[in-house]
Amino acid sequence: MKGRIIRKLRIEKLAQGGDGLSHLPDGRVVFVRGGVPGDLVDVELEKDKKTWARGQVVEVHEPSQARTDRVGCDAFERGCGGCQFWGVGYEDELGWKVEAAREAMARISKLDLPEPEVIAAPSIRDYRSRVTFHQRRDGEDIKCGFYAAGSREVVAVDGCPVARPEIDEAMAEIGGALAMLGRADITGETCGDGQAVILVELGRKERIRHDQLEELSRIVEQGMVVSGVEVVDYRGKYFIIGDTTVDAAEVLAQSPVESMRVKPGRFRQANQAINKLLVEQVVTEIAAANDRPRVVELFCGAGNFSFALAPHVEGLVGYEASEGAIEAAHQMAELAEHGGRLNFHIADLFDEEIVAGIGELSFDVLLLDPPREGAAQVARQMADEQASPELNQIVYVSCDPACLARDLKTLVGGGWSVDSLRFFDMFPRTSHLEALVCLRR
Ligand SMILES: C[S@@+](CC[C@H](N)C(=O)[O-])C[C@H]1O[C@@H](n2cnc3c(N)ncnc32)[C@H](O)[C@@H]1O
Repeated sequence: MKGRIIRKLRIEKLAQGGDGLSHLPDGRVVFVRGGVPGDLVDVELEKDKKTWARGQVVEVHEPSQARTDRVGCDAFERGCGGCQFWGVGYEDELGWKVEAAREAMARISKLDLPEPEVIAAPSIRDYRSRVTFHQRRDGEDIKCGFYAAGSREVVAVDGCPVARPEIDEAMAEIGGALAMLGRADITGETCGDGQAVILVELGRKERIRHDQLEELSRIVEQGMVVSGVEVVDYRGKYFIIGDTTVDAAEVLAQSPVESMRVKPGRFRQANQAINKLLVEQVVTEIAAANDRPRVVELFCGAGNFSFALAPHVEGLVGYEASEGAIEAAHQMAELAEHGGRLNFHIADLFDEEIVAGIGELSFDVLLLDPPREGAAQVARQMADEQASPELNQIVYVSCDPACLARDLKTLVGGGWSVDSLRFFDMFPRTSHLEALVCLRR
């Protein structure tokens, strides 16, 4: 029954997604928000289903040995749901995440997957180069922060320990000028030289006043940390103050041209240090297995992998849905004189017909880095032995182990075998984990 308190449950392990996992006295699995392996806790049930339940910790009787004295984030202690692992050792966190991801992948794919290599984050703090804060009216107050664990209530924060310092400094610099907005999402994005750009997306019926825009201009003109601000209202009306472009070196692991600036707000990997290691590994895998291959890259963004691969390939064609990302990739390819060898196209890669068309091209390597939903259409297409007969390697980057496992099952069913598995900790202190899988046939 919802609201029932279950006393003294031992958290056995971490479940995929970041909750602790335990068993109710009647044997059903229960997913416990706020519990980490080893804790002995009381749990209040929020969902009570026939075969499983979900709840949250309401009291800790015995803390896990992995818990440390210092939590490290005051907002986490007040219920912020942005992270899950403040207050536990990093080695434990990473070990649990890897185990949960492996278990989920084995269960869903039903494959005997290779032993993974695990690449830890060089730093668990100050790593995120793009952060979205939510600002909401709450009675008389206006709060700016992140959603609480398991709800849409905002926990106010004064800085974020995983954000790059320039984002916190920019938010402090600009916060006063935006303080009257009752509903807005405010994104801080690093743009190079220790500065940040701010994107303000106003909620329905929310308006920015002339005097607020003047105040923002004054802050930007001072040229401290905020180099530019974009404000967009719910009808798409834009105000741009100062320079809102971002150094391409902040967005790509290797910028192909010096001093290149791109527009903000496109997809970018959130952790530059881990992104560099991930991109290096992708290049190594492809270059080691092929002599100047022809590469098709799906979900290529603005070319984070493409430009690093450029010296090692005969040609690369990238596909991606975001017009802005493709425009930036085109521009950089031309400036770097890769024109002709590197090509980029806008495409909806969840469209069966478009994916079937790509399957008819002649290429040796497929690189893909889909969003959370994975790439079911692509996996089905590439599992067809008639499609892309010259294709001999698939390099799959994924931020969702469950969808990755589903797609691996399809590919292996079509004659592919998994050569290697790596986990990159792109988001320390959170339950997310990035995976890199190489397949051969
Ligand atoms: C995980 S990101 C990877 C981007 C790029 N590989 C990088 O490292 O910066 C996923 C990308 O998929 C794109 N995307 C989302 N839905 C898509 C769709 N239906 N078709 C094509 N691309 C899509 C997003 O715009 C985003 O750039």
